[in-house]
Amino acid sequence: MRTPIIAGNWKMHKNVGEAVELARQLDEMVADSAVEVVICAPFTSLSSLSALGVNKVKIGAQNMYFAEAGAFTGEISATMLEDVGCEYVILGHSERREIFKEDDELINKKVLKALEVGLKPILCVGETLAQRKAGETENVVVSQTTKGLAGVSPELIEQVVIAYEPIWAIGTGETSNGKDANEVIASIRQTLAKLFGDEQAQKVRIQYGGSVKPGNIAEFMEQPEIDGALVGGASLNVKDFVGIVKY
Ligand code: PGA
Repeated sequence: MRTPIIAGNWKMHKNVGEAVELARQLDEMVADSAVEVVICAPFTSLSSLSALGVNKVKIGAQNMYFAEAGAFTGEISATMLEDVGCEYVILGHSERREIFKEDDELINKKVLKALEVGLKPILCVGETLAQRKAGETENVVVSQTTKGLAGVSPELIEQVVIAYEPIWAIGTGETSNGKDANEVIASIRQTLAKLFGDEQAQKVRIQYGGSVKPGNIAEFMEQPEIDGALVGGASLNVKDFVGIVKY
């Protein structure tokens, strides 16, 4: 049985005080949930969130660089994230791919480095609207999954979480429906089975993401292949995020 995982992606929102307050409230309100709950906060809040000593909620970052250390102005290493108490790191989010021109090769290096230091990557994959209309959804997610996970050992694959986020559904209020998302996620799991063996593929948690709200989360969570959600906008508000965790 895979433990469901619901992660909030705060993107570039919340100063330290706001982040700490939200995390404190959330931690209390979801304490009895069977779901694994993660907040992926901006870098500036990570050490304060760790110092807060949350019990239930786990802490993640939204990006990192693959090098160990060196002359990489503006970048943050996997070891630095681990040092401030992160357990997870989102990698290859579509905003990183589109706005910051990250490609599968770079994302793969980040995935490998995260695993090397014991961070759990949340690898994001998903198609654009044009790709969906052209019937390329499956090809795109299979290719992003395969390239993003190149070189990962079968023993470590269960540390990886995959987030299937159709790009046209992110922040738009448009969502995929449970059945369609389940089908795409099933094809991601088949890809994992080919790459890592069926037994290992069954252990990997695959989330849906894209305009997840308290009112639509159940539709996704009731699908057999969907193991949780990556939540952007609705994770910024404690009431909404708790409503999602307690679907
Ligand atoms: P959204 O964002 O929930 O605001 O659509 C999801 C994401 O980008 O991870």
